[in-house]
Amino acid sequence: MLSLSHISFSYGLVQILDDVSIEVPKAKVVCIMGRNGVGKTTLMRNIVGLEKASKGSVTLDGRDISKVPARRRAQSGLALVPQGRMIFPRLTVKENLEVGLSARTDGRRTIPEEIYELFPVLKEMGARQGGNLSGGQQQQLAIGRALVGEPRVLLLDEPTEGIQPNIIQAIGQVLLRLVSEKEMTVVLVEQYVDFIKEFGDHFYIMNRGRVVANGDTPQLSEAIVRQHLSV
Ligand SMILES: Nc1ncnc2c1ncn2[C@@H]1O[C@H](COP(=O)(O)OP(=O)(O)OP(=O)(O)O)[C@@H](O)[C@H]1O
Ligand SMILES: [Mg+2]
Repeated sequence: MLSLSHISFSYGLVQILDDVSIEVPKAKVVCIMGRNGVGKTTLMRNIVGLEKASKGSVTLDGRDISKVPARRRAQSGLALVPQGRMIFPRLTVKENLEVGLSARTDGRRTIPEEIYELFPVLKEMGARQGGNLSGGQQQQLAIGRALVGEPRVLLLDEPTEGIQPNIIQAIGQVLLRLVSEKEMTVVLVEQYVDFIKEFGDHFYIMNRGRVVANGDTPQLSEAIVRQHLSV
């Protein structure tokens, strides 16, 4: 479905990604793990086109999209829920969701009702300012905003960061529903191992811009975690 092949990327003279290859099959949850600063967010930004790799390619459904600008990648079905959520604090919840409509190609101007089915809190709080929501509610809003465009591939950058356990579970359940009911494909940047084991299918661990381990999540052993992830 989504394939990264030999991606390298530098900020100025500093190489951040070094020959990264990752396969993301349709309707699976692929987790990208690694300590702080290893290049996970940079990789997500390369996938959605906010940065352009100096080497390698990004392929979606067999089509090389490496040269396609971010806006067109969004329209072809990639949606990123950015690290730190990046909701607009002064816009209402409903207005934040409406921002997501711009990724649609059908000109629709209303929020699909299923967003509210997935996250009922967004309906209840529709008139509130985004900045007044709790961290967990903001994360649900950020995911809802990405889903408004009806993406085929949903990329989430550390969605559990700083969020209370009950909302983490609710987010995990939504991901499972999206995968089983809509055949959504998910790329999940995550450092929370239990969440990966519960909701992920495959994992890749990065270190200093390279993939250093990968496998199916049941193979994610204590030893691997200790070697590559413990601080
Ligand atoms: N705009 C930028 N300009 C220069 N260097 C950057 C920029 N953004 C990130 N970096 C550097 O690139 C490296 C990788 O950063 P990145 O944010 O991709 O890591 P990460 O794995 O997502 O970390 P975290 O777990 O803390 O989110 C870091 O050393 C960071 O300082
Ligand atoms: Mg990051």
